[in-house]
Amino acid sequence: MRHHESVLDSWTPRTWRDRPAAQQPDWPDDDALAGALAELASYPPLVFAGEARALTSALGLAAQGKAFLLQAGDCAESFDSFSAPKIREQLRVILQMAVILTYSSGVPAIKVGRIAGQFAKPRSSPYERVGEIDLPAFRGHIVNGADPTVAARTPDPRRLVQAYHQSSSTLNLLRAFTKGGFADLTRVHAWTQEFVATSREGQRYEALASEIERALTFMRACGIDLENTAQLHQVDLYTSHEALLLGFEEALTRVDSTTGEWYDCSAHMLWIGERTRQLDGAHVEFLRGVGNPLGVKIGPSITVDEAVALCETLNPDRVAGRLTLIARMGADHVEATLRPIIRAVTDAGHPVVWCCDPMHGNTFTSAGGHKTRHFDAVVRELVGFFAAHRAEGTWPGGVHVELTGDDVTECLGGAEEIEDHHLADRYETVLDPRLNGRQSIDLAFRVAELLRR
Ligand code: PEP
Ligand code: CO
Repeated sequence: MRHHESVLDSWTPRTWRDRPAAQQPDWPDDDALAGALAELASYPPLVFAGEARALTSALGLAAQGKAFLLQAGDCAESFDSFSAPKIREQLRVILQMAVILTYSSGVPAIKVGRIAGQFAKPRSSPYERVGEIDLPAFRGHIVNGADPTVAARTPDPRRLVQAYHQSSSTLNLLRAFTKGGFADLTRVHAWTQEFVATSREGQRYEALASEIERALTFMRACGIDLENTAQLHQVDLYTSHEALLLGFEEALTRVDSTTGEWYDCSAHMLWIGERTRQLDGAHVEFLRGVGNPLGVKIGPSITVDEAVALCETLNPDRVAGRLTLIARMGADHVEATLRPIIRAVTDAGHPVVWCCDPMHGNTFTSAGGHKTRHFDAVVRELVGFFAAHRAEGTWPGGVHVELTGDDVTECLGGAEEIEDHHLADRYETVLDPRLNGRQSIDLAFRVAELLRR
């Protein structure tokens, strides 16, 4: 059944405006904002509704235990470090992780980037005290600048338009790389970055890549026509971001001419953050009406009833693949907190994709003053997540991580044992600490081991 049939008697892309919208910037100039949004509404969509439907179908398999979601990318994309190498390195590490997961688990990995639109950030406080004054908090480059000055922090609606253009050219390059030969499985060795190749994780990846090459050689020798098998030469990489700025999302929401349904064409998949998932809030109201696959972050404060109610509101027709619940409970809480939620959602007949975000519940400020996460806590949260699903008899359907292909020092630990005093070396993130290329490969092997058990 099309989800719109039961949902949409009262919904339009504007009905969110009658609800309280958390985490919206205080735009200083209403006319300038309206002008930017009107401009965006006149621009082409970034994705096609048919692609969003294909992702829903793929995620439907993850809801049924037949696929695994890898959702990964930046915490926040940057206007400053925007370049082809940045995009390429991000893609490489995602491709490597997907190969590790697929080869080890035997089920397809659905690749969804936090990319080509992941700009806007929710903040715990709308203000930041700097010296004697309260400055507006930094909300991501789509809203304001990070420098601690009044000028930089004043929200500027022209940034919405710049974010659209950056998303568009990022997506263009991703489409070129994934369909034009870069992601060809015969290049499985070529995806390794130099700084990874020499490490233990890198060597483990190289061994796996060699096994894949041998398998391909074997199939070719058997007479299988590999050259004309498109799946070996192209991959589907979908885009996603937190649908935080509802004016921006509304401006990119269009009627799909093939089905007559509304889609938010700013990305294939949109998610609702932990701070904006109020049942009667504007974010839930907006997203319930679009046809895209949706995610909702759920943290330790969520109740069982809230989780079931979110499923009812966002996926009343119980379409497998429509809704992904992204648990970010913290390593110490995940197993106990998640089990009753899994049980209640399952009992209510909701076919969700269960996804683990092992990052956001394990963030702290180090003694040296850096916002960071420890690799061991990330792994512990994953172990607890898998344990909860094993106990409940459900499929752990995916992971959601913040990472970069670059050689940064933002998260502690990992095989290279990054310590507090290393964090300052290459701490480059716009906001949250990301796993670097090596830690990401290591993590993929850990997840693969958990999947095989
Ligand atoms: C994020 O994914 O960057 C984020 C802010 O997460 P959460 O809503 O789970 O805190
Ligand atoms: Co983050």
